[in-house]
Amino acid sequence: MKVLVIGSGGREHAIAWHARKDPRVTGLFIAPGNAGTAQLGTNLPIAANDLPGLLAWAEKERPDWTIVGPEEPLCLGVVDRFAEKGLAAFGPNQSAARLEGSKAFAKRLFLKHRLPTAAGAIFSDPLEAYAHSQKAPYPQVIKADGLAAGKGVVIAKNPDEAAKAIYRIMERRAFGDAGREVVIEECLTGPEISVLAVTDGKTYQLLPLAQDHKRVGDGDTGPNTGGMGAYAPARFLDEATRRRIEEEVLAPLLAALPKEGIDYKGILYAGLMLTPTGPQLLEINCRLGDPETQVILPLLETPLVDIAAAVARGELGSLELRFNDLSALGVVAAAPGYPEAPRLDGPIEGIDLPATGNRYVFHAGTGTKGGRTVTRGGRVATAVAWDRDLETARRHAYELVEGIGFAGKVFRRDIGARAQQKT
Ligand code: AMP
Ligand code: GLY
Repeated sequence: MKVLVIGSGGREHAIAWHARKDPRVTGLFIAPGNAGTAQLGTNLPIAANDLPGLLAWAEKERPDWTIVGPEEPLCLGVVDRFAEKGLAAFGPNQSAARLEGSKAFAKRLFLKHRLPTAAGAIFSDPLEAYAHSQKAPYPQVIKADGLAAGKGVVIAKNPDEAAKAIYRIMERRAFGDAGREVVIEECLTGPEISVLAVTDGKTYQLLPLAQDHKRVGDGDTGPNTGGMGAYAPARFLDEATRRRIEEEVLAPLLAALPKEGIDYKGILYAGLMLTPTGPQLLEINCRLGDPETQVILPLLETPLVDIAAAVARGELGSLELRFNDLSALGVVAAAPGYPEAPRLDGPIEGIDLPATGNRYVFHAGTGTKGGRTVTRGGRVATAVAWDRDLETARRHAYELVEGIGFAGKVFRRDIGARAQQKT
């Protein structure tokens, strides 16, 4: 079986690693991949958002499955374009991917279907946005509508910060067309949780609940990033909270989609905040999370292509996802200056240790230069370990991240430190 993985981050290295464990997978291709994926399969010099390039390759090589990592190709319609040519790609179609591609679209849907979410309003006229933001309570959350690589969300503490954010997003168009509309909403508080489900549009199954650490600094300080580390499963959640997440958020959300004409097939990732009054929806992502995937896939025993095939046939209900009973924890090593201005191209040592036992370094922003592995992206790698208990996994993941050597390496020292805390 031939498998194509689209993307180049730690998530895609983890997908490729999981696919490699499946003996039926005889050909593994990653577009464009990184220095880590090059050791598992063949990297293709095709960017993840180059739909014509991906399609041309796939029409010639006819992969049995394409697994799409990042949101951009999904929002551009890669699954639809592949389907037109009879090529199977795992992920939601373009219309379903709007749930991530447009925060205004998602928010309208949450509000219309009375899903638990922060009170908020949507604006396409900057003057109306300024007027609204001056009177609403603070802090206030201002979100650019479109994809902005995790940088389009501002938590404004006062009217001045709100006005600056609206100006930057809507008038200066710091994120281009992503700033055509803004969502302005109430600021919620509480721990965040990543709820990832697989759905075939009829039924769904949960992946282990994961917790990401979005801020760059220890103790959740500094700017937001793509994610600095994660662990799964989030055992600190009690049964009642888990039930509320499914009954109050996930099930009603999935029931709302067909009513909106959305045929959602693939991974649906709900970003939730566990507030004092219950779980609230912050956002929907139409893909696996990064770094959540790096800690979820070591726990998943069912081959990815079996999940993709069951979803495509609309038979997810008859596939039982299997997980081991271990805990996994991953720590991201980032380049100095991440997330604002990462300094790249530095040589990396100790990233390719032989895989021994339950630990693995998933590459992210890495490439090769003159035969050496070098830093190519803000997040360089995720060091992951999995074990019977989270503490052991945590200790091993930290040993692993300590062993990765590059100048100015940045990583958080408190990934999973609050995992035992009750909400
Ligand atoms: P989003 O892309 O909408 O998930 O926003 C990115 C991050 O901003 C989230 O992971 C939260 O940390 C934060 N955030 C988003 N919406 C809110 C909100 N209503 N209240 C507090 N924090 C939020
Ligand atoms: N870890 C956050 C995300 O994948 O969006």
